[in-house]
Amino acid sequence: MLTTVSALRDWSQKQHALGKRIGLVPTMGALHEGHLSLVRAAKEQCDEVVVSIFVNPTQFGPNEDFHRYPRPLENDLSLLETVGSPEVFVPCVEEMYPKGFDVTIHVGTRNGGCTEILEGRSRPTHFSGVATVVLKLFLASAADVAFFGQKDFQQAAVIKKMVADLNVPIDLVVCPIIRERDGLAMSSRNRYLSASQREQATALFRSLEEAARLIVSKKIRDAAVVKQAMRTIIETAPDAEIDYIALADPLTLRELDRLDQEEIVALLAVRFGSTRLIDNKIISRKQAT
Ligand code: PAJ
Repeated sequence: MLTTVSALRDWSQKQHALGKRIGLVPTMGALHEGHLSLVRAAKEQCDEVVVSIFVNPTQFGPNEDFHRYPRPLENDLSLLETVGSPEVFVPCVEEMYPKGFDVTIHVGTRNGGCTEILEGRSRPTHFSGVATVVLKLFLASAADVAFFGQKDFQQAAVIKKMVADLNVPIDLVVCPIIRERDGLAMSSRNRYLSASQREQATALFRSLEEAARLIVSKKIRDAAVVKQAMRTIIETAPDAEIDYIALADPLTLRELDRLDQEEIVALLAVRFGSTRLIDNKIISRKQAT
């Protein structure tokens, strides 16, 4: 296990000297099958893989769950043994943000940037925190490829934009959403849900499936109609408070009024008590049968 940036750098230099292609999987720990699927993809596509586990304080808002975010490190390390024991980077906060640290990467909103809408509207400093830590991880690991989940669709879009605009020499791979049997997208935050909220939370997936059905099979083109149908399903869950429901262009994340284009992404954020869940689905009209 590596705990310092210099140890990570030494490790990656050694791998590159051996001609190895390095894959990076950034995480905040509390690992589940979603994270492990990224590690498996990285293992398949790279010679060496490093998983970072760092609960990044700068991406949490003042009233968010930074302090109570789960940190089951021993369990995470055991889970990583089941997927071929990748190298693990577990820095402390002072290692990533030493005294005097004062740089923020801010991806703007022009030319496809999307940091101020959807998640960015509810969490105004979130994506700066993500972009800053992710760039630090890219530089410290000198990875050739980094793996992210579609679960955080907007996060992947923000990172793609940062990499493109700064010419960061890294390839990005976005992997599919891994779900529980009943459709709930796996998330480290699902463990906050009460038994009843956990049951109600399946409404997110059901509403995304309904959106796909209305757009693909029923050929509905009015976004308001589809969003209302999604809202109706989520409102069957008594504890659900909708933060947003959006039908957007998958590249810019700009919301659509008319659903005429070939690919659309449905995105939502819903609160159950103090737990905020997000999910999304890419809806391709080419799927139409
Ligand atoms: P974290 O929430 O731990 O997620 C780490 C990675 O796992 C992200 O790329 C996320 O999209 C992916 N992931 C989470 N749940 C998934 C699921 N059900 N299926 C597939 N992939 C899933 O995202 C972060 O951490 C942080 O913002 C980070 C990028 C590490 C920066 O701090």
